[in-house]
This record gives sequence, structure tokens and C-alpha cells, in this order.
Amino acid sequence: MSSVDMSVNIAGIRLKNPVMTASGTFGFGEEYGEYYDLNRLGAVVVKGLTLRPRKGNPPPRTCETPAGMLNSVGLQNPGVDFFLEKELPRLLDRGACVIANISGASVDEYCLMMEKLSKSGVAAVELNLSCPNVKEGGIAFGLKPDLVYEVTRRVKECGQKPVIVKLSPNVTDIVEIALAAAEGGGDAVSLINTLLAMDIDVWSRRPVLGNTYGGLSGPAVKPVALRMVHQVAGAVDIPVIGMGGILDWYDAVQFILAGAKAVAVGTANFVNPLAPVEIIEGIERYLVKQGFTSVEDMVGALV
Ligand SMILES: Cc1cc2nc3c(=O)[nH]c(=O)nc-3n(C[C@H](O)[C@H](O)[C@H](O)COP(=O)(O)O)c2cc1C
Repeated sequence: MSSVDMSVNIAGIRLKNPVMTASGTFGFGEEYGEYYDLNRLGAVVVKGLTLRPRKGNPPPRTCETPAGMLNSVGLQNPGVDFFLEKELPRLLDRGACVIANISGASVDEYCLMMEKLSKSGVAAVELNLSCPNVKEGGIAFGLKPDLVYEVTRRVKECGQKPVIVKLSPNVTDIVEIALAAAEGGGDAVSLINTLLAMDIDVWSRRPVLGNTYGGLSGPAVKPVALRMVHQVAGAVDIPVIGMGGILDWYDAVQFILAGAKAVAVGTANFVNPLAPVEIIEGIERYLVKQGFTSVEDMVGALV
């Protein structure tokens, strides 16, 4: 029995530990469930859902970069109804705490999805206002404080589930966006999504990605993510979920010290499928060594 309290309260939900998966890097958990019990995670954040199924962007959709990767998946997913009917029951049967990540082409689409998800067993809904890989919706909502405020406020009115607003790093001032999310009634913010980026093949003289641009993730973005989490945590009263380049427990502890109450593991899942559980164990060892009695005591404990 552990001597430290690993649980955290995020958006009114008590998570058994502060480690979640980052949307889009864990599918619906099926493949990773072969490596460990999904109920060991604080939460499973599923692939970004849209109102209707989406085929996504033309290939190639991913490529490696120094210390990271680019993706332009373009929100390929089976749609919210399929998720509710087929994927969610399977995840809940495994005892997972499930957070649905949603993207809309309009505020009404976000609301329709929230209405559907409100009647389900998901613990919370994460609004993806920051996908750089789709033409409509997604990031278009995340770049302007008034739109972030409006979509958050409307979605809160449409359902009872706690709302986590996922922020884009592709802005000049992340703090004003986070404040707008909080003012709109967001129960938590999560950051960062990927940084808009590109790669070029000089022999074909073409962009490497079929979509030309994509999102950069992985260790390369960690210093940017840490800086933004630190700035946002110092400015808002709602919990912050930190992500961007977390590979191991050391990275995760950095985010918690910077002010994140929970963390999400993304690109690391592609390199080491056991990364999230190893991170949970590493955080626990760190707490014991440093004499903390709970994760919550460590949040923002930067001196
Ligand atoms: C292949 C891939 C697909 C992603 N799909 C989504 C998505 O559907 N919705 C979303 O909000 N974020 C999506 N993201 C962003 C991640 O959830 C995360 O915010 C970002 O990758 C930074 O974390 P990381 O460096 O640990 O990967 C995706 C990232 C990757 C690499």
C-alpha cells in the first residue's frame, strides 16, 4: 500500500492518479489494453471525435523530426455515435475513466456532441479548439479569446459533463486564451496541442506531409509546453492539465512543479507503450523521496 496520495481532483472528477493519455495517440485504448490494465491510468482521453465519421487527410500523415514527429492525421475517426455505441462500453467495461475529446466545425456541432455525450458514461469532455490539421473548426476556435469564451459557454449550457478546454500553442498570448476559457465556464484547461510545422524533401522538392503542414509533438516541444503551462497555471484558478513531450516521470514531474495538476502522455506512447504506467510509478517514487504526502502538495511547488 502506497504511503502517498496519488489522486487528484480535476474538473470535479477524482482521478486515481494524475496521468492520462493525450488524445489521438492512444486510439480508443484497444491496442494498449494488451500491455496493461487501462484502469491503472488516471484517465483515457480518446481520439478526437467529430459529429460525423471523418476519413482524415491524404498520406503521408506522419514523419519523424529531430526529437519529435509531425502529424497531419486530420481527425480521422468513426464519429461520436459509433464511439458511444461500440468503443465507450468496451472502455467502461475495463474500468477506465474516459474523457471524450471533441472537434466541431461550428459551435452548434460542439453542442450537439456535448448533448449526446452528456447521456453517456464519459467522465468529462475535452474541447479540441486547437487542431492544426483541419480546414474548418478546430484551431479556428482556439486562436481568438472571444470565440474560446463563446464556444465554452455554449457547450457548458448544452450538457452536464465537466468541460476541459484544450488550448493551442499557435498563439501570441496563451494566457488570454486560457482566461477566456475559464470565464466561459471551463472546468479545466489542457495544453499544449501540437505546434504548426512542416518538413520538406529536397529531392522531390515537395512537402513531406500530404497536407503540407502538420503538428509538431514530442520532446522537441517540451520547453515551449512547460513555459506555457507555467504561465497559464499562474493566471487561472481552474486546474491545468499539462502535456507536450512527456516521455518519462522526470518530464511529468517538471509539468506538475510548473503548476499542472495532471499530465497527459502523447507521442511517447508510440515509442514505449508502457510509458504512462512507468510514469505513474516514477511520480510515486519521486513523491516518497522528496517527502511529499500527495501529488496535490507538489502542484506548482517550484521554488
Ligand atoms: C498522431 C497524433 C494525433 C493527435 N490527435 C489529436 C486529436 O485528435 N485531438 C487532440 O486534441 N489532440 C490531438 N493530438 C495532440 C496530442 O493530444 C498532444 O496535445 C500533443 O501531441 C502534445 O503532446 P505529446 O508531445 O506528448 O505528443 C494528436 C497528436 C498526435 C501526435
